[in-house]
Amino acid sequence: MIFLDLGLQPLANKYLNLNQKKKRETKFRLLLDFNVKTKIVSIKKTFSSKKMFDDKYPYRSSMSKTMKENFLRLSNNLKKKYKHKKILEIGCNDGAFLKNFNNNDTLGIEPCKNIANLARKKRIKVISEYWNMSLANKIKKKHGKFNIVYSANTITHIKNLDNVFSAIKNILESDGIIIMEDPSLLECIRKNAYDQFYNEHIYVFSLIALSKFLEKHKLRIFKVDKLKVHGGSNRYFICKDQNKIRIDKSVKNLRKEEMKLSLHKLKTYQNFAKRVINSKLKLIEILKRIKKSGKQIIGYGATAKSVTILNYCKIDSTLIDYFLDVTPEKMNRYLPGVKIKIKRYNKNSLKNIHFVFLGAWNFKDEILKKEKKFIKSGTKFITHIPTPRIIK
Ligand code: TYD
Repeated sequence: MIFLDLGLQPLANKYLNLNQKKKRETKFRLLLDFNVKTKIVSIKKTFSSKKMFDDKYPYRSSMSKTMKENFLRLSNNLKKKYKHKKILEIGCNDGAFLKNFNNNDTLGIEPCKNIANLARKKRIKVISEYWNMSLANKIKKKHGKFNIVYSANTITHIKNLDNVFSAIKNILESDGIIIMEDPSLLECIRKNAYDQFYNEHIYVFSLIALSKFLEKHKLRIFKVDKLKVHGGSNRYFICKDQNKIRIDKSVKNLRKEEMKLSLHKLKTYQNFAKRVINSKLKLIEILKRIKKSGKQIIGYGATAKSVTILNYCKIDSTLIDYFLDVTPEKMNRYLPGVKIKIKRYNKNSLKNIHFVFLGAWNFKDEILKKEKKFIKSGTKFITHIPTPRIIK
């Protein structure tokens, strides 16, 4: 059942060069769906992985301190608990996680060739292909089975979940574990973070929906860690049914929380949709008010999430002059759809800037700390999470 229409949207991570800016872009209607039977929340229209994840993919995991620390903490825990185990990472990006291990024990899968090469520079073994059963078979023949399959912010990007999990099961030792982390639907609903939805985020999972789905594959969640990253994520620990691992109380606790917020009911999503419409109106109102007073507004963090917000709210360069970002691949390009320019960030970028829209709101703590000096001298950040406001 469709519960929200986020309007006509371009493909989120396709930052435009000057030439592309002049051309017509592919746009699609971003509709959000709740499946009453499976409890899965997904986007309606999807694109092929080949179209979305190509050799010009601009996203690098290592661009934020928060993410690097997140991966390091998990790596240290795994090294302590599971010594010298074979680890496969699906969607290893630039190697932010695998670089913390001995390269002989690990293998990364990263279909975006430009990003895979960044991981290879860290001496990580990487196969640059899309994850599916035929790749799993090929890897099993050459490398055998794995003890740990890890995947962060990737599984929700792949449409055919049955194929994804069959392939993982195929390559996983019988006592092996799957660790997957992705944005939490609970946090997304709580924070009114409608920008978690764009063409790459095909699914945003609740524990309720994921565990129901995994049952079909004879897999079960035995532990879940709540993470702060990406606006609130869940790190699920999953094993094969036959595995005797005891189910941790974190699973029951999260399920309880999700039931309390009624994540299994359509009404919750319909109410969310109403809040999203209000959020849009309020954000436009704040930006217009500032602009009317003659002040300039810029954006910080040209995220894929920003693409959803800007295109949904129809915010273009008449309201936000330009965006700042640290990612080399995004430099001097334009945010798709609304065509706002992205400029290179430097330590003094916020000098004499009055208002900054926080596109990377999921890194709020890291960014506000970094820009402390400018905030003290008057720079104000604007966020739409959980409701649009100027951060005091
Ligand atoms: P992110 O929120 O991880 O992703 P998505 O594109 O999936 O919505 O992206 C964060 C972006 O913000 C990324 O382009 C890097 C940028 N960024 C900065 O420019 N400065 C910073 O201090 C941080 C933390 C991120």
